[in-house]
Amino acid sequence: MDSAKKTDEKENLLAKVVSLCKRRGFVYPGSEIYGGLANTFDYGPLGTEILRNIKSDWWTTFVSKRQDIYGIDGGIILNRKVWEASGHTESFIDVLAECKKCHLRHQLDKLPKDVKTCPDCGGELTKARKFNPMFKTFVGPLQNEDATTYLRPETAQAIFTNFNNILNSFSPKLPFGIAQIGKAFRNEITLGKFIFRTLEFEQMEIEYFIQEKDWQKYFDRWKKAIWDWAISLGIKKESLRWRNHEKEELAHYSKKTEDLEFNFGGEYRELYGLAYRTDFDLRNHSRFSGKKLVYREEGKTGFYPHVVEPSFGVNRTFLAILYDAYNQEKDRLVLKLNPKVSPYKIAVFPLLANKENLVKKAVQIYGELSREFTTAFDGIGNIGKRYRRQDEIGTPWCITVDFQTIENETVTVRDRDTMKQERVAISRLENYFKKAMAAS
Ligand code: GAP
Repeated sequence: MDSAKKTDEKENLLAKVVSLCKRRGFVYPGSEIYGGLANTFDYGPLGTEILRNIKSDWWTTFVSKRQDIYGIDGGIILNRKVWEASGHTESFIDVLAECKKCHLRHQLDKLPKDVKTCPDCGGELTKARKFNPMFKTFVGPLQNEDATTYLRPETAQAIFTNFNNILNSFSPKLPFGIAQIGKAFRNEITLGKFIFRTLEFEQMEIEYFIQEKDWQKYFDRWKKAIWDWAISLGIKKESLRWRNHEKEELAHYSKKTEDLEFNFGGEYRELYGLAYRTDFDLRNHSRFSGKKLVYREEGKTGFYPHVVEPSFGVNRTFLAILYDAYNQEKDRLVLKLNPKVSPYKIAVFPLLANKENLVKKAVQIYGELSREFTTAFDGIGNIGKRYRRQDEIGTPWCITVDFQTIENETVTVRDRDTMKQERVAISRLENYFKKAMAAS
């Protein structure tokens, strides 16, 4: 494919996804009424449901269903010594240059090595400048050096600082993991990538503690687990690929990193990271805090376990899911979302909004189903329009209450992808959808 066509395809799909997100209440620009704030977004009612679904599925898969992983919820603001020990104060550095012509800023370490001019307009770039993307803040009333700390740029560190607490409370045996979901903050300077790179975002991270000799084995296991989870959410395997980090690209704590990349409209970019962090963090926190963060089996000497870290971005998952689900068909726009992540699982319609008995029955069915599934109710416009509205937001099943319902207690259930309808007894609906959800 020639490069102009590729750029068009990339921008078109992104523009379409952005427009749908705004129009239907998935994602809005941040601080919009004040002209916005670069690289910030707010999630609307439908986007919020998807975020919740992603996080909940991740937690079920990697924490609730596993005996070897412990979940925590650590602070966003930590003692600044944490960031000195972790190396972030000194080594968490972005290299940026600005285009003299279009004034877009670029993160040079994220561009191919041979790029010498602005990738957007071809203009000349300013000299490279280094900066630390951590957000500084102050604790207490005095805004001096002693009061300085940072909003966390990764969730990982509260896991390391709680290492001894988990050992003391749960006595886990190696290998074991500590997991966390939460916000992280980075002063990102590259613009225009929608929710791909934002000032605040959510991470889902696991620090998996192992014996040093086993690192490759667990690295490979996590590689498979990450891939399988992405696929289970409805991301297509054709959209994914692994990319190994070059030596000079590795984060300061990592001996080996591979990114799972997603094809965002013709351009592969990082979706998740998998890093072998060695014993870097536990060793450094022990040195800086004076507390030994070691693992010890009875009668044996203690040692620093090594760490394999799968790190997932919630917001990039959201974007990848929307990219792969977006389908413009001849007569309709349909989001073919996996029911696990769709904002609503079911929509209930009375055939006619002015027939009291149909509305009453539909409200009753809505009330019953919404106890178990996130369910929408729509009585506005004709049925065709209501189907289209639900297709656009990815609702997998629509129920219509019609005159036959009043006679024999059955409704039609319409499938989003095949558009086929079948009649189902009201008494069977709950089981019908439980089965359909389990099969998806
Ligand atoms: N603890 C390791 C770590 O933080 P990272 O590759 O810098 O590694 C992990 O970040 C994941 O967090 C990324 O793969 C991405 O999904 C997400 N992420 C990082 N920066 C982001 C940003 N500015 N906006 C949205 N997501 C981001």
